[in-house]
Amino acid sequence: MSSTAAIMFKECVLLVIAAALVGCCCGVEMAKILDKPGRSLTSSTLQWVDLQKGQNPPQHALLVSEGGPLWCRARQHANWISGAVVDSVCHIPFINRVFEMEEYEVLVSINESARVVPAEWDRLQAIPSRGIATSNMLLLAIAKTDEGKVLPGYVDVNKRRACLVKDGQYHEQTSAIILTEDEPVHYEVDHVVRDEEHSQLFTTEELVSNTTLINPENENQVVSDILDYTAKEIIYWGRVRGTIIGLETTVTDPSGNIRDITWGIENELDHLVQQKVEFELPAGAGVNVKLIAVMRKYEALYSAKLTAVYGDGERRPRSINGLHMHTHLTELKAHYSRPYYLSNNTEIEGEFLTSEILIHSTTTTTTTTTTVSSGGESTLAEKPQSDSLATTDAENKLQRVVTCLVSSKHHVISVSVQYPGYLLFN
Ligand SMILES: *[C@@H]1O[C@H](CO)[C@@H](O)[C@H](O)[C@H]1NC(C)=O
Ligand SMILES: *[C@@H]1O[C@H](CO)[C@@H](O)[C@H](O)[C@H]1NC(C)=O
Ligand SMILES: *[C@@H]1O[C@H](CO)[C@@H](O)[C@H](O)[C@H]1NC(C)=O
Repeated sequence: MSSTAAIMFKECVLLVIAAALVGCCCGVEMAKILDKPGRSLTSSTLQWVDLQKGQNPPQHALLVSEGGPLWCRARQHANWISGAVVDSVCHIPFINRVFEMEEYEVLVSINESARVVPAEWDRLQAIPSRGIATSNMLLLAIAKTDEGKVLPGYVDVNKRRACLVKDGQYHEQTSAIILTEDEPVHYEVDHVVRDEEHSQLFTTEELVSNTTLINPENENQVVSDILDYTAKEIIYWGRVRGTIIGLETTVTDPSGNIRDITWGIENELDHLVQQKVEFELPAGAGVNVKLIAVMRKYEALYSAKLTAVYGDGERRPRSINGLHMHTHLTELKAHYSRPYYLSNNTEIEGEFLTSEILIHSTTTTTTTTTTVSSGGESTLAEKPQSDSLATTDAENKLQRVVTCLVSSKHHVISVSVQYPGYLLFN
């Protein structure tokens, strides 16, 4: 197995393990949020996890009150009823009784990503939006007694009353504190550390534009044209458990560049670019020009700090791990056909430019030399370096490298000319 294959194999194994961790645990269901009566959403941060009497509760299970019991829900007939775990058993208030259930589910805030906000309610008021639902029409709720005790239970949205456990007994009242989930309005991602050692690079070439330059005059001249092409760029920072796909996100990458993206999807950020091509043509000749983009795709696992920013300004940072992918144009080349006479399409003998690097992005060296292999083909000695992933604007020190192949079949000389960098992305 080659080392690349070995790395790919390892990554695959990692991905399979990750998938198994995410997809495992039968009995994991994302919580529902009652956006408004009759319309529920799926939470990205809260989930119900199976538990039985005697089992240890999962990490980050939600507490009814500080230092208090865990939230739980259990099935009674067709309904899920919420209550609290006491002595490893779920106590739920249901039709004038408190039932003790040995099989139940606890509510988990994935990596503590959920922000639960209490909302005061009484039966004369509208039900607050974004209540955490235990089932269709029941919302997680508590009540506080005058002595400061916290009673767990739920509000029945249809019957407009709260059903609670008070001193181990069933208790009903017409006011309660409904638990709602607030979603962030924005994410900020920084302190990104990429796993460079296991990163992968894929390079492909794409034809992005083409044209034919012609010289109808009676003497040699330089003929030029301006070509439009799309410089594709795709940025992805992964799907991370406990995060909301589609949220506006500002990412500060390891080079300090700041990009606004949509979280959890591949962001295609294309640039429309104009490129001049020119060719010195003999009298009455034409040449076909192809613009070729060399696209580089970079993939790496990363760790970072993700800060959830809420509507009221609250900020909640946490650590995340994810997969980063970045595809961008790293080089633009022009390929020229052999010039031909316009009158009879016959190729012209002689020495002509065959290809030219118009734009090249690199962070390494400015000394780019061109070597010519014995076969007469030009190859760039400079290879992309793993630390020159050139993922972003500032990393792109663009150079114009013109490779002139002054060639005949047996005699090859290469000349390399550099122009100070000009910027492709802006
Ligand atoms: C190449 O040129 C032809 C003819 O002008 C055009 O139809 C085609 O879209 C061009 N291809 C690209 C990738 O620009
Ligand atoms: C959950 O938090 C831990 C510790 O902060 C972190 O290592 C892990 O990557 C987080 N999980 C996800 C899915 O981000
Ligand atoms: C094609 O035309 C050019 C100039 O018009 C001429 O010099 C050349 O000999 C022609 N070649 C053929 C094969 O007819």
